[in-house]
Amino acid sequence: MIRIKSAFALGIHAFPVDIEVDVGGGIPQLAIVGLPDASIKESRERVRTAIKNSGFQLAQEKVTVSLAPAELKKEGASFDLPIALGILACHGMIPPENLSGFIILGELALDGNIRPLKGVIAITAALKGHTFLLPSENSVEASLVKGATVYPAKTLKEVVGFLRGEIMLSPAEIKNGGDRASRVFSDVDFSEVKGQRSAKRAIEIAVAGNHKILLIGPPGSGKTMLARRIPTILPPMDAEESLEVTKIHSVAGLMPQQGDLIRNRPFRAPHYTASAVALTGGGSDPRPGEISLAHAGVLFLDEFPEFRRDALEALRGPLEDGFITVSRVKMQVTYPAQFLLVTAMNPCPCGHLSDPRKSCRCSLGQIHKYRSRISGPILDRIDIQIEVPSLPFQTLASHEEAESSEKIRYRICECRKLQKKRFRMRPYRTNALMNPKDIKEYASPDIQGQKLIEAAMKELHLSARAYYKILKIARTISDLAGSEQIQSEHIAEAIQYRSLDRQWWA
Ligand SMILES: Nc1ncnc2c1ncn2[C@@H]1O[C@H](COP(=O)(O)OP(=O)(O)OP(=O)(O)O)[C@@H](O)[C@H]1O
Ligand SMILES: [Mg+2]
Ligand SMILES: [Zn+2]
Repeated sequence: MIRIKSAFALGIHAFPVDIEVDVGGGIPQLAIVGLPDASIKESRERVRTAIKNSGFQLAQEKVTVSLAPAELKKEGASFDLPIALGILACHGMIPPENLSGFIILGELALDGNIRPLKGVIAITAALKGHTFLLPSENSVEASLVKGATVYPAKTLKEVVGFLRGEIMLSPAEIKNGGDRASRVFSDVDFSEVKGQRSAKRAIEIAVAGNHKILLIGPPGSGKTMLARRIPTILPPMDAEESLEVTKIHSVAGLMPQQGDLIRNRPFRAPHYTASAVALTGGGSDPRPGEISLAHAGVLFLDEFPEFRRDALEALRGPLEDGFITVSRVKMQVTYPAQFLLVTAMNPCPCGHLSDPRKSCRCSLGQIHKYRSRISGPILDRIDIQIEVPSLPFQTLASHEEAESSEKIRYRICECRKLQKKRFRMRPYRTNALMNPKDIKEYASPDIQGQKLIEAAMKELHLSARAYYKILKIARTISDLAGSEQIQSEHIAEAIQYRSLDRQWWA
């Protein structure tokens, strides 16, 4: 009997699997135990044909393969290579001791070529310090984690030659990898956006404290332009975040070909026709959706009211929890989904309500219907609402250079440092995630500020949720100002970002 170590990825988590192969007794056939029924037949076919097409002749005997643990719902394909090698070893074609040092995985094509897999870096990250034999197309990705030695497998024939000591394979080499801090590469910059001081200010606050933001303005006022520049002011990712983001992209089959971990925070901008599954994840794999691909970065939903109702509703849970559980028959996969939500919309269907340059053609009913597409519970979860007015021609034509992304980013990084220190004993790091108890401890305004917020609550008929949001935003505003105490001016500014509440949505 031959024993081989393998592994498989479930979401971004990985589990070791033991494969045992036994030959002899009974009628000639290949029996596989421990895989879901549907994948056994296909796996058997691929293994048998790949062995034959690689030129190996086997005696007609009964072969029994069992995978342990059996209760895990594994997908079959990644075990083709270790199963085939086990069978060949049982027939004396590979010295069994040469198999023992490796964790082996790979899907076989019928011609004996070894196909790439998804989520390989999740496996090498989870099973640190081992030596792997896995598809050559995945070998660079797989060796990006420290301590993983990865031998690239191209064809079954070549792997057998290697394990018999007839040919040499060298472990994949990587130039990058490691703990380097992230860089920001971008061909756009906030300095290109003229005017829009208050929108930029609101965006800076949103990014600094991780507050969800909605930009509202007429067509051409620069909402999309502003949002697309947000990646240029995000703080760098640390090594842990970088690895987590890379794993998610690997599982989705979206690894960039650069041979390095993903270093820049993701910016995802799905189109409004996206389905609920495309946004939150699922399908037969089940794959991560846009909200998980945006993890540690930005999810930008442009033309917000145009999104499908069911797709927006599906965001409610993950926005609260920071993760999403996708289920399939008897299988559940949890993906992280902590992102900065940035949304943009016009004030009305024609877009020109509140535009001094063009008049609005919409009826009150149309406007109401348009806005009501964003349900109350979703709106409630958005912290900052800011108007982006269309600019007068003089501002657009001016040659005055606006502040660079680098300067804004510096302030944001300083502000994040403060928050990291404040929340060092908490499971989160930003003001937006404070619970009511923390708000009481860290975000109580001075007496004047308290009076101001009470007055605003009455006057603007703000909800309890809005009250807490104002305090959290005010905390970020005072952090940006380097003030320990939340002052009334900070509260006053925070209230402005909720002032659309009543006039707009009621
Ligand atoms: N403040 C600005 N400074 C420089 N250019 C601007 C500014 N605002 C708008 N523009 C120019 O106008 C173009 C259109 O802006 P953008 O696409 O961001 O508008 P929008 O608000 O997203 O409009 P829509 O509602 O139609 O999607 C930009 O690509 C840019 O060239
Ligand atoms: Mg736009
Ligand atoms: Zn209109």
